[in-house]
Parts: sequence; structure tokens; C-alpha cells
Amino acid sequence: MKSICLIGFMGSGKTTLGKELAKKLDAVFLDTDEEIIKWREMDIPEIFQLEGEKRFREYETEVLKGLPQKNTVIATGGGIIEAKMNRDILKNDFFTVYLKTSFEEIKQRLASNKNRPLWNQEMEKKEQLYDSRQYIYEECADQIIQTDDYSAERIVQMIMKSI
Ligand code: S3P
Repeated sequence: MKSICLIGFMGSGKTTLGKELAKKLDAVFLDTDEEIIKWREMDIPEIFQLEGEKRFREYETEVLKGLPQKNTVIATGGGIIEAKMNRDILKNDFFTVYLKTSFEEIKQRLASNKNRPLWNQEMEKKEQLYDSRQYIYEECADQIIQTDDYSAERIVQMIMKSI
């Protein structure tokens, strides 16, 4: 099985659904944020603060390049699609699923979230970021699922049918 990459904005359920999907497929689950945290021995807010977003994006590329291309379900960070090289990797080497979640739903899910540096800014800026990424996620995806409309179980089934 070609490895599956879940992409989508912060709060779209990549990690939760990825773990469920991996269990059902008896596949390994990996999370690019977790891989960076282990490798750099720092959490994400620390990396943003001490090294900056640009460096974090470089770490994402390094991690993405080293991921297994078979039998793995991968939850990616919401900004993985910012780098052109990452977009090419997602398109060429993985079965990529865009979990498309409305901004209204994301706002509710992340209402009290403090651990995501790019969520700690004005609402208008967050919405701009969300809007600016939509077409990029779509362009990279082999499958697009509007997650607001379905249960987690149903989303997992939909992905399993498509691979
Ligand atoms: C980011 C999303 C986060 C994490 C970092 C940057 C982004 O991952 O990689 O805070 O740019 O959207 P999640 O999408 O898992 O929250």
C-alpha cells in the first residue's frame, strides 16, 4: 500500500483520523509534528520562538523526505503545503487526502488552543491564512473529504475505499 498523507488546516482532525485509519489498515502511524519534536528535542512553540517559522518549514521538508512511502499513515502539520518541494512530494510519492473542514468548525475546535503559534493571532489573520491555503490543499490532494458532513468512522471508511 502506498503511504497515505493526511493534509488540512489545523484542527481538521488529521491526527485523530490518522490514528483510527492506521489501526483499521494495520499500518504504522506517524505525525510530522511529532517527528520534528523528537528530532529537535523542542516543542513546536519553542521552535517557532527560538528558530522561526522558516526553519520549522525546513524541518518539515526534511521529515517529509524521510518518511516511508509504503504502509504508513501520516498526519502532517497544517502548513506542510507552504513549501513547493513538499507539494511535489505529496503529489508524487503519497496518496494524499485533504481533510476539508469549515473555518467555523475549526474555530470551535481550537477555541482554547494555545499550542499552535499560528493560531495565536488575530481572527482575521487566521481566516486569511485558512483562505489562502484552500486551493493549495486541493491542488495536492488525490481525495478531498468535507469532514463537517461525516463521522470519523465514515471518513475512515471513505479513505479505505479510495486507496
Ligand atoms: C501549523 C500547523 C501545526 C504545526 C505548526 C504550524 C500550520 O500542525 O505544524 O503549529 O502552519 O498550520 P497541526 O495542523 O497538526 O495543528
